[in-house]
Amino acid sequence: MKAIPLKKDIYWVGGIDWNLRNFHGYLTQRGTTYNAYLIIDEKVTLVDTVKHYLFDEMIERIKSVIDPEKIDYIISNHVEMDHSGSLPKIVKIIPDAKIITSTNGLKGLKLHYNQNWNFQEVRSGDSLELGRRTLKFFHMPMVHWPDSMATYIPEDKLLLPNDAFGQHIASNERFNDELESGILLEEAAKYYANIVLPYGEQVKRALSALSALDIEMIGPSHGIVWRSKIPEIIKLYAKWADNQTDRKALIVYDTMWDSTRKMAYKLQEGLLEGGMAVDMRDLKTTHISDIMTELINAKLILIGSPTLNNGILPTVGAFLTYIKGLRPAKRTGFAFGSYGWGGQAVKIIEDVMKSLNWEIPVEGKKLQYVPEKDALSEVKEIGRELAGRTGRED
Ligand code: FEO
Repeated sequence: MKAIPLKKDIYWVGGIDWNLRNFHGYLTQRGTTYNAYLIIDEKVTLVDTVKHYLFDEMIERIKSVIDPEKIDYIISNHVEMDHSGSLPKIVKIIPDAKIITSTNGLKGLKLHYNQNWNFQEVRSGDSLELGRRTLKFFHMPMVHWPDSMATYIPEDKLLLPNDAFGQHIASNERFNDELESGILLEEAAKYYANIVLPYGEQVKRALSALSALDIEMIGPSHGIVWRSKIPEIIKLYAKWADNQTDRKALIVYDTMWDSTRKMAYKLQEGLLEGGMAVDMRDLKTTHISDIMTELINAKLILIGSPTLNNGILPTVGAFLTYIKGLRPAKRTGFAFGSYGWGGQAVKIIEDVMKSLNWEIPVEGKKLQYVPEKDALSEVKEIGRELAGRTGRED
């Protein structure tokens, strides 16, 4: 396995995780990569490592360029173990190498590995001379953890922002122009929606700090390297960080005896007649992490569950728990569902929407047992009304 050149004397030396299908609850149907970067200069530098079980792959790639014992610095942009997991093994090879990390990175690495390695803490804005090149460090707390940091190489106009701008794609292609752009953008959106979404304000601050930089290439810690479309992906991040959405509705539901599904389809009809784009997902057949990919651009979110044991269906409960954590903002919500006697589901869903500060312009709708034609016509009218109330400004 060989290193892949990105720039003169800068190489990708990461690991490809072809078989990963679940990243703490996020379905990674296309696998992923853990990207590490090797910089050959007067001081040889490795930026990040790979998940522990891909250490041998990373070392083989490094060896295709240089003896790993010649590495002087390891930059740890992020403590999470998909990027720091090979530190213990590489430190055994190069015990004197300096591990450079942010203030929170230092705390986090010590708490993960309980080792007194040769650490050097850097503050945001600090620089490190490598010889012909300089590394500049920017702390990016909460993009994705408190320790997250970006490393920028001005001489090469190369930004290495770790998790930011990543995508979970296992691929031997290394650059964005080598992959079909629809797949790439879908995976970038899915990654943002499932990993970065709660931290919009921090993303805005990071984008503002990075806006002064001349960036020709972005090497994230997962997936492909952006060597074109840089303004486009930055613009998308700005849109998602600000929770800007399209005039699109997303209906998410599960059903017990088909009544809630019937309501979902009638809402769809009304919304379409009202001129809205609509996506519909049954929680029995679509994973919540894939639903988030749709939700990231949708203004109007309709969530349906029948009442079960005075509560909601577990699938809907899991989805509500997930969105409470990811905190999509600036949405309009509508709750619906069928019931037999208690009918608590609609309120449970609305309470979650309220906790996210979503607008709820139309009171939730519950229908008993098997809805009649007239009742379903009313549901369709609600769809039309919601479409009418969802403006085009977003
Ligand atoms: Fe890819 Fe937050 O680790």
